[in-house]
Amino acid sequence: MAIQWYPGHMHKARKKIKENITKIDIVIEVLDARIPYSSENPLVAQLRQNRPCIKVLNKSDLADPNITKAWIKHFNQEKGVKAVSVVGDKKGPTRSTINDTISFCKRWLPERNFNSKPVRIMILGIPNVGKSTIINALSNKSIARVGNEPAITKAQQFIHLDDGVLLCDTPGILWPKIEEEGSGYRLAITGAIKNTAIEFEDVAMYAADYFMRNFPEQVIKRYQLDELPSSDVELLEIIGRKRGGLRAGGRIDMNKASEVLLHDYRANFLGSLSLESPAMLDDLTKEENIADKQAKD
Ligand code: G4P
Repeated sequence: MAIQWYPGHMHKARKKIKENITKIDIVIEVLDARIPYSSENPLVAQLRQNRPCIKVLNKSDLADPNITKAWIKHFNQEKGVKAVSVVGDKKGPTRSTINDTISFCKRWLPERNFNSKPVRIMILGIPNVGKSTIINALSNKSIARVGNEPAITKAQQFIHLDDGVLLCDTPGILWPKIEEEGSGYRLAITGAIKNTAIEFEDVAMYAADYFMRNFPEQVIKRYQLDELPSSDVELLEIIGRKRGGLRAGGRIDMNKASEVLLHDYRANFLGSLSLESPAMLDDLTKEENIADKQAKD
Protein backbone atom coordinates (compact mmCIF):
# COMPACT_ATOMS: atom_id res chain seq x y z
CA MET A 1 0.00 0.00 0.00
CA ALA A 2 1.45 3.34 -1.08
CA ILE A 3 1.26 5.25 2.19
CA GLN A 4 4.38 6.67 3.72
CA TRP A 5 4.99 8.38 7.03
CA TYR A 6 8.26 10.03 6.25
CA PRO A 7 11.26 9.26 8.51
CA GLY A 8 11.85 13.04 8.81
CA HIS A 9 8.46 13.44 10.49
CA MET A 10 9.17 10.57 12.84
CA HIS A 11 12.53 11.96 13.83
CA LYS A 12 11.12 15.44 14.47
CA ALA A 13 8.16 14.12 16.47
CA ARG A 14 10.33 11.84 18.58
CA LYS A 15 12.79 14.68 19.32
CA LYS A 16 10.04 17.11 20.30
CA ILE A 17 8.27 14.64 22.58
CA LYS A 18 11.57 13.56 24.18
CA GLU A 19 12.43 17.20 25.00
CA ASN A 20 9.03 17.92 26.54
CA ILE A 21 8.30 14.68 28.33
CA THR A 22 10.81 15.51 31.07
CA LYS A 23 8.27 18.07 32.37
CA ILE A 24 5.39 15.58 32.28
CA ASP A 25 3.99 13.37 35.07
CA ILE A 26 1.28 11.46 33.22
CA VAL A 27 0.99 10.66 29.52
CA ILE A 28 -2.38 10.33 27.80
CA GLU A 29 -2.19 8.32 24.59
CA VAL A 30 -5.31 8.74 22.49
CA LEU A 31 -6.24 5.74 20.35
CA ASP A 32 -9.03 5.15 17.87
CA ALA A 33 -11.32 2.61 19.58
CA ARG A 34 -11.98 0.93 16.21
CA ILE A 35 -8.26 0.22 15.62
CA PRO A 36 -6.41 0.34 18.95
CA TYR A 37 -3.57 -1.82 17.61
CA SER A 38 -2.81 0.22 14.49
CA SER A 39 -3.37 3.60 16.13
CA GLU A 40 -0.97 2.80 18.99
CA ASN A 41 2.67 3.83 18.84
CA PRO A 42 5.23 1.61 20.60
CA LEU A 43 7.46 4.63 21.17
CA VAL A 44 5.12 5.83 23.91
CA ALA A 45 6.18 2.93 26.17
CA GLN A 46 9.84 3.80 25.51
CA LEU A 47 9.51 7.57 26.00
CA ARG A 48 7.27 7.59 29.03
CA GLN A 49 9.61 5.29 31.02
CA ASN A 50 7.91 4.79 34.39
CA ARG A 51 5.37 7.60 34.04
CA PRO A 52 1.77 6.38 34.19
CA CYS A 53 0.00 6.21 30.85
CA ILE A 54 -3.71 6.62 30.28
CA LYS A 55 -4.80 4.95 27.06
CA VAL A 56 -7.92 6.79 25.95
CA LEU A 57 -9.93 4.77 23.45
CA ASN A 58 -11.68 7.63 21.71
CA LYS A 59 -14.47 7.50 19.12
CA SER A 60 -15.96 4.64 21.10
CA ASP A 61 -19.36 5.64 19.67
CA LEU A 62 -18.10 4.19 16.39
CA ALA A 63 -16.72 0.93 17.83
CA ASP A 64 -18.28 -2.31 19.03
CA PRO A 65 -18.81 -1.80 22.81
CA ASN A 66 -17.94 -5.42 23.70
CA ILE A 67 -14.69 -5.29 21.76
CA THR A 68 -13.82 -1.93 23.34
CA LYS A 69 -14.33 -3.54 26.77
CA ALA A 70 -11.99 -6.37 25.76
CA TRP A 71 -9.34 -3.83 24.67
CA ILE A 72 -9.62 -1.98 27.99
CA LYS A 73 -9.07 -5.25 29.83
CA HIS A 74 -6.12 -6.00 27.56
CA PHE A 75 -4.41 -2.61 28.06
CA ASN A 76 -5.05 -2.62 31.82
CA GLN A 77 -2.79 -5.66 32.08
CA GLU A 78 0.20 -3.52 31.01
CA LYS A 79 2.31 -2.09 33.83
CA GLY A 80 1.56 1.56 34.59
CA VAL A 81 -1.32 1.70 32.12
CA LYS A 82 -4.94 2.56 32.79
CA ALA A 83 -7.32 2.39 29.83
CA VAL A 84 -10.67 4.12 29.43
CA SER A 85 -13.09 4.65 26.57
CA VAL A 86 -14.69 8.00 25.71
CA VAL A 87 -16.59 9.89 23.07
CA GLY A 88 -14.37 12.92 22.74
CA ASP A 89 -16.94 15.52 21.82
CA LYS A 90 -19.21 14.63 24.75
CA LYS A 91 -17.42 17.19 26.88
CA GLY A 92 -18.89 16.49 30.34
CA PRO A 93 -18.55 12.68 30.36
CA THR A 94 -15.12 12.85 28.71
CA ARG A 95 -13.85 15.33 31.28
CA SER A 96 -15.10 13.37 34.26
CA THR A 97 -13.89 9.99 32.93
CA ILE A 98 -10.40 11.33 32.22
CA ASN A 99 -10.22 13.37 35.44
CA ASP A 100 -11.16 10.29 37.50
CA THR A 101 -8.49 8.32 35.68
CA ILE A 102 -5.88 11.03 36.30
CA SER A 103 -6.73 10.93 40.03
CA PHE A 104 -6.36 7.16 39.98
CA CYS A 105 -2.99 7.39 38.18
CA LYS A 106 -1.64 9.95 40.67
CA ARG A 107 -1.44 7.06 43.15
CA TRP A 108 1.23 5.52 40.95
CA LEU A 109 3.48 8.53 41.59
CA PRO A 110 3.91 8.36 45.39
CA GLU A 111 7.03 10.54 45.40
CA ARG A 112 5.20 13.59 43.96
CA ASN A 113 3.57 16.17 46.21
CA PHE A 114 0.63 17.21 44.07
CA ASN A 115 -0.53 19.76 46.66
CA SER A 116 2.51 21.93 46.07
CA LYS A 117 2.99 21.05 42.40
CA PRO A 118 0.09 20.29 40.06
CA VAL A 119 0.20 17.17 37.95
CA ARG A 120 1.37 17.78 34.38
CA ILE A 121 -0.23 15.89 31.54
CA MET A 122 0.69 15.51 27.89
CA ILE A 123 -1.61 14.16 25.20
CA LEU A 124 -0.07 12.02 22.47
CA GLY A 125 -1.50 10.22 19.48
CA ILE A 126 -1.52 9.77 15.74
CA PRO A 127 -3.29 12.36 13.55
CA ASN A 128 -7.09 12.48 13.59
CA VAL A 129 -7.68 10.24 16.64
CA GLY A 130 -9.29 13.15 18.49
CA LYS A 131 -6.44 14.69 20.53
CA SER A 132 -7.64 18.27 19.97
CA THR A 133 -11.25 17.31 20.69
CA ILE A 134 -10.15 15.79 24.01
CA ILE A 135 -7.98 18.80 24.95
CA ASN A 136 -11.00 21.01 24.31
CA ALA A 137 -13.28 18.72 26.31
CA LEU A 138 -10.86 18.70 29.26
CA SER A 139 -10.18 22.42 29.22
CA ASN A 140 -13.80 23.31 28.59
CA LYS A 141 -12.64 25.79 25.95
CA SER A 142 -11.77 25.69 22.27
CA ILE A 143 -8.01 25.79 22.47
CA ALA A 144 -6.80 23.11 20.14
CA ARG A 145 -7.89 23.19 16.54
CA VAL A 146 -10.10 20.25 15.61
CA GLY A 147 -10.05 18.72 12.17
CA ASN A 148 -7.76 17.35 9.60
CA GLU A 149 -5.26 20.19 9.62
CA PRO A 150 -1.52 19.66 10.04
CA ALA A 151 0.15 19.82 13.44
CA ILE A 152 -0.39 22.97 15.45
CA THR A 153 2.93 24.75 15.52
CA LYS A 154 2.67 27.31 18.32
CA ALA A 155 4.90 26.95 21.37
CA GLN A 156 3.80 24.51 24.03
CA GLN A 157 1.92 25.95 26.98
CA PHE A 158 0.12 24.47 29.93
CA ILE A 159 -3.57 24.99 30.60
CA HIS A 160 -4.79 24.95 34.21
CA LEU A 161 -7.63 22.46 34.63
CA ASP A 162 -10.02 22.59 37.60
CA ASP A 163 -8.33 20.29 40.03
CA GLY A 164 -4.57 20.85 40.31
CA VAL A 165 -3.90 19.51 36.83
CA LEU A 166 -1.85 21.20 34.12
CA LEU A 167 -2.52 20.08 30.59
CA CYS A 168 -0.04 20.68 27.80
CA ASP A 169 -2.16 22.50 25.20
CA THR A 170 -0.27 21.19 22.18
CA PRO A 171 -0.68 17.51 21.50
CA GLY A 172 2.32 15.40 20.57
CA ILE A 173 1.74 14.00 17.10
CA LEU A 174 2.91 10.44 16.60
CA TRP A 175 3.07 8.36 13.46
CA PRO A 176 0.73 5.44 12.88
CA LYS A 177 1.67 1.79 12.55
CA ILE A 178 1.65 1.53 8.78
CA GLU A 179 4.58 -0.78 8.14
CA GLU A 180 2.15 -3.65 7.79
CA GLU A 181 -0.23 -3.68 4.88
CA GLY A 182 -3.31 -4.56 6.96
CA SER A 183 -2.69 -1.74 9.45
CA GLY A 184 -2.27 0.74 6.60
CA TYR A 185 -5.60 -0.29 5.13
CA ARG A 186 -7.43 -0.19 8.46
CA LEU A 187 -6.01 3.28 9.19
CA ALA A 188 -7.19 4.43 5.77
CA ILE A 189 -10.68 2.93 6.21
CA THR A 190 -11.19 4.78 9.51
CA GLY A 191 -9.96 8.07 8.04
CA ALA A 192 -6.77 8.27 10.11
CA ILE A 193 -4.86 8.77 6.88
CA LYS A 194 -5.92 11.71 4.74
CA ASN A 195 -8.09 10.87 1.75
CA THR A 196 -5.62 12.64 -0.52
CA ALA A 197 -2.90 10.20 0.52
CA ILE A 198 -4.82 7.03 -0.27
CA GLU A 199 -5.94 5.15 -3.35
CA PHE A 200 -9.68 5.20 -2.75
CA GLU A 201 -10.52 2.19 -4.87
CA ASP A 202 -7.71 0.11 -3.43
CA VAL A 203 -8.78 0.90 0.15
CA ALA A 204 -12.47 0.34 -0.65
CA MET A 205 -11.68 -3.03 -2.21
CA TYR A 206 -9.91 -4.08 0.97
CA ALA A 207 -12.81 -2.71 3.03
CA ALA A 208 -15.42 -4.51 0.89
CA ASP A 209 -13.61 -7.81 1.32
CA TYR A 210 -13.06 -7.23 5.06
CA PHE A 211 -16.67 -6.24 5.71
CA MET A 212 -18.10 -9.17 3.75
CA ARG A 213 -15.93 -11.62 5.70
CA ASN A 214 -16.40 -10.05 9.14
CA PHE A 215 -19.74 -8.23 9.04
CA PRO A 216 -21.87 -10.02 6.40
CA GLU A 217 -25.22 -9.23 8.04
CA GLN A 218 -24.49 -5.52 8.27
CA VAL A 219 -23.46 -5.42 4.59
CA ILE A 220 -26.63 -7.24 3.50
CA LYS A 221 -28.81 -4.93 5.59
CA ARG A 222 -27.18 -1.66 4.57
CA TYR A 223 -27.25 -2.34 0.83
CA GLN A 224 -30.55 -4.27 0.90
CA LEU A 225 -29.10 -7.41 -0.64
CA ASP A 226 -30.64 -10.88 -0.81
CA GLU A 227 -27.27 -12.49 -0.32
CA LEU A 228 -23.59 -11.58 -0.12
CA PRO A 229 -21.95 -10.83 -3.47
CA SER A 230 -19.24 -13.24 -4.54
CA SER A 231 -16.41 -10.68 -4.51
CA ASP A 232 -15.30 -7.24 -3.34
CA VAL A 233 -15.58 -5.90 -6.89
CA GLU A 234 -19.14 -7.19 -7.19
CA LEU A 235 -20.14 -5.51 -3.92
CA LEU A 236 -18.68 -2.20 -5.12
CA GLU A 237 -20.48 -2.56 -8.45
CA ILE A 238 -23.78 -3.09 -6.64
CA ILE A 239 -23.14 -0.08 -4.40
CA GLY A 240 -22.22 2.02 -7.46
CA ARG A 241 -25.36 0.97 -9.27
CA LYS A 242 -27.61 1.71 -6.28
CA ARG A 243 -25.95 4.86 -5.00
CA GLY A 244 -25.31 7.28 -7.83
CA GLY A 245 -22.36 5.63 -9.55
CA LEU A 246 -24.11 4.43 -12.72
CA ARG A 247 -22.65 6.16 -15.78
CA ALA A 248 -23.46 6.29 -19.50
CA GLY A 249 -23.56 2.90 -21.18
CA GLY A 250 -24.11 1.14 -17.83
CA ARG A 251 -20.52 1.74 -16.72
CA ILE A 252 -20.01 1.79 -12.94
CA ASP A 253 -18.00 4.64 -11.45
CA MET A 254 -15.90 2.61 -9.01
CA ASN A 255 -14.44 5.72 -7.42
CA LYS A 256 -17.93 6.91 -6.50
CA ALA A 257 -18.82 3.43 -5.18
CA SER A 258 -15.62 3.43 -3.11
CA GLU A 259 -16.44 6.82 -1.64
CA VAL A 260 -19.92 5.63 -0.66
CA LEU A 261 -18.64 2.49 1.08
CA LEU A 262 -15.94 4.35 3.06
CA HIS A 263 -18.32 7.16 3.95
CA ASP A 264 -20.94 4.66 5.13
CA TYR A 265 -18.40 2.98 7.41
CA ARG A 266 -17.00 6.25 8.82
CA ALA A 267 -20.47 7.68 9.41
CA ASN A 268 -21.52 4.52 11.28
CA PHE A 269 -24.20 3.64 8.71
CA LEU A 270 -22.98 0.03 8.72
CA GLY A 271 -23.16 -0.06 12.53
CA SER A 272 -20.53 0.36 15.25
CA LEU A 273 -17.89 -1.97 13.86
CA SER A 274 -14.42 -2.43 15.32
CA LEU A 275 -11.74 -3.44 12.83
CA GLU A 276 -9.34 -4.88 15.41
CA SER A 277 -9.88 -6.93 18.56
CA PRO A 278 -7.53 -8.38 21.18
CA ALA A 279 -8.53 -11.83 19.87
CA MET A 280 -6.81 -10.89 16.58
CA LEU A 281 -3.53 -9.93 18.29
CA ASP A 282 -1.67 -13.15 17.43
CA ASP A 283 -2.38 -12.62 13.74
CA LEU A 284 -1.59 -8.91 13.92
CA THR A 285 1.75 -9.58 15.62
CA LYS A 286 2.56 -12.18 12.97
CA GLU A 287 1.91 -9.56 10.25
CA GLU A 288 4.20 -7.18 12.14
CA ASN A 289 7.03 -9.73 12.35
CA ILE A 290 6.78 -10.44 8.61
CA ALA A 291 6.87 -6.68 7.87
CA ASP A 292 9.93 -6.27 10.14
CA LYS A 293 11.69 -9.13 8.40
CA GLN A 294 10.89 -7.72 4.95
CA ALA A 295 12.20 -4.32 6.03
CA LYS A 296 15.51 -5.89 7.17
CA ASP A 297 15.97 -8.04 4.00
P1 G4P B 1 -6.50 15.19 16.24
O1 G4P B 1 -6.33 16.42 17.08
O2 G4P B 1 -6.03 13.95 16.92
O3 G4P B 1 -5.92 15.31 14.87
O4 G4P B 1 -8.07 14.94 16.01
P2 G4P B 1 -9.29 15.97 16.14
O5 G4P B 1 -9.56 16.30 17.57
O6 G4P B 1 -9.04 17.09 15.20
O7 G4P B 1 -10.50 15.07 15.63
C1 G4P B 1 -10.53 14.50 14.33
C2 G4P B 1 -11.99 14.27 13.90
O8 G4P B 1 -12.56 13.26 14.75
C3 G4P B 1 -12.89 15.51 14.05
O9 G4P B 1 -13.88 15.45 13.02
C4 G4P B 1 -13.59 15.25 15.37
O10 G4P B 1 -14.84 15.91 15.46
C5 G4P B 1 -13.79 13.74 15.29
N1 G4P B 1 -13.93 13.14 16.64
C6 G4P B 1 -13.18 13.35 17.73
N2 G4P B 1 -13.60 12.62 18.76
C7 G4P B 1 -14.64 11.89 18.30
C8 G4P B 1 -15.49 10.89 18.90
O11 G4P B 1 -15.35 10.48 20.06
N3 G4P B 1 -16.45 10.34 18.07
C9 G4P B 1 -16.61 10.71 16.77
N4 G4P B 1 -17.58 10.12 16.08
N5 G4P B 1 -15.83 11.65 16.18
C10 G4P B 1 -14.86 12.22 16.94
P3 G4P B 1 -13.82 16.39 11.78
O12 G4P B 1 -13.31 17.73 12.12
O13 G4P B 1 -15.15 16.28 11.10
O14 G4P B 1 -12.76 15.70 10.94
P4 G4P B 1 -12.99 14.48 9.97
O15 G4P B 1 -14.05 13.60 10.59
O16 G4P B 1 -13.44 15.12 8.72
O17 G4P B 1 -11.68 13.79 9.92
